[in-house]
Amino acid sequence: MPGYRALSLAFTAALATACAVAAQGPGPGPSAAPGPTPEDLAPAPPMGWNSWNRFHCDISEQLIRETADAMVASGLRDAGYRYVNIDDCWEAPARDAHGDLATDSARFPSGMKALADYVHSKGLKIGIYSSAGWGTCQKRPASLDHEPADARKFAEWGIDYLKYDNCNNQDRPAIERYKAMGDALRATRRPIVYSLCEWGANKPWEWGRSVGGHLWRTTGDISDRWSSVLKILDQQVGLEKYSGLNGWNDPDMLEVGNGRMTDDEYIAHFSLWALLNAPLIAGNDLRSMSDGTKRILMNKDVIAVDQDWGGMQGHKVRDDGEREVWMKPMSSGDVAVVLLNRDTTAAQLGVTMRELGLSGGRHEARNLWAHTDGVVTDTLSAALPRHSAAMFIVRK
Ligand code: GAL
Repeated sequence: MPGYRALSLAFTAALATACAVAAQGPGPGPSAAPGPTPEDLAPAPPMGWNSWNRFHCDISEQLIRETADAMVASGLRDAGYRYVNIDDCWEAPARDAHGDLATDSARFPSGMKALADYVHSKGLKIGIYSSAGWGTCQKRPASLDHEPADARKFAEWGIDYLKYDNCNNQDRPAIERYKAMGDALRATRRPIVYSLCEWGANKPWEWGRSVGGHLWRTTGDISDRWSSVLKILDQQVGLEKYSGLNGWNDPDMLEVGNGRMTDDEYIAHFSLWALLNAPLIAGNDLRSMSDGTKRILMNKDVIAVDQDWGGMQGHKVRDDGEREVWMKPMSSGDVAVVLLNRDTTAAQLGVTMRELGLSGGRHEARNLWAHTDGVVTDTLSAALPRHSAAMFIVRK
């Protein structure tokens, strides 16, 4: 069987290259083989945590260590959350004597390498933040015109994920600025997920992949408010065709558990983000989560929808003003559905099997929040309290 043999040899060769890359480690070196292609780094939307939404500049190595500990102890790691991401304000106020980015030594006395080692020892990955400008949004040193050196520094520290912001960009073209860092990250040969935080200003969904991005923010900043969730949701309409394996639309990080929305609102937020194949980056204090917050962030059925790629991210199929229906094809041929009541009063919502692209008649369905299985005939419907959503998988 010559065909089979050729295939098996090709496979062996690919495996040998992969092993060589793994053995050689991330560091650049003259004899190093090319590293894993950036295209392979985010086959599913990244999951993890980021310091910004809850802590802003009030961060330290102790917080990051305790967050890594909590990610393991709470079960979040086992539910799929992997990245512990440090946002703005980790930087010292000025570059060091060599012109390199330096870590704020009062808040991170052990340094970034030691912190990365600690996070890695927990079976987790670590992310960091910079801006494609002269300074970050909090006016710390940032990476414009320093891309190769800064990327090398991140690789040296053992960083696995870079969120790259857009502040203080001197009105220089976005594609150029983001490509410079994408190229620099690639040149380090360390696998580093590249998260473009350009706020959707220059339609990054159109060029994010071409500059090496694995995800790109589609909007300005989220806040811990129902109105913010809805505003961002509305901005996702029409972007569904740009998202896909290794290149995800990012409607911003989660606010679940930060305290200014009700659990119904957080359930709707989490359901919608999962339906959109959004990166699930928790933004709360993992060290003190209520049981309600844990139940939301660790709903395995909902996470499975987020991590599944059925050919298109979730999109709106019905808009009755304050009542909406969103659906997403699953790779199994089943359909994930979110019924959303944006209104301040309770409402009854429904959608027909045909609107979901399924045949009419009986279908099995699972309610992903009630954790119940049932049968739907022609129309899936639910009674929804104010500001809430229900989420289902309808079997094909
Ligand atoms: C914003 C960004 C936020 C956060 C903040 C830090 O531009 O959208 O997510 O990173 O900067 O200063």
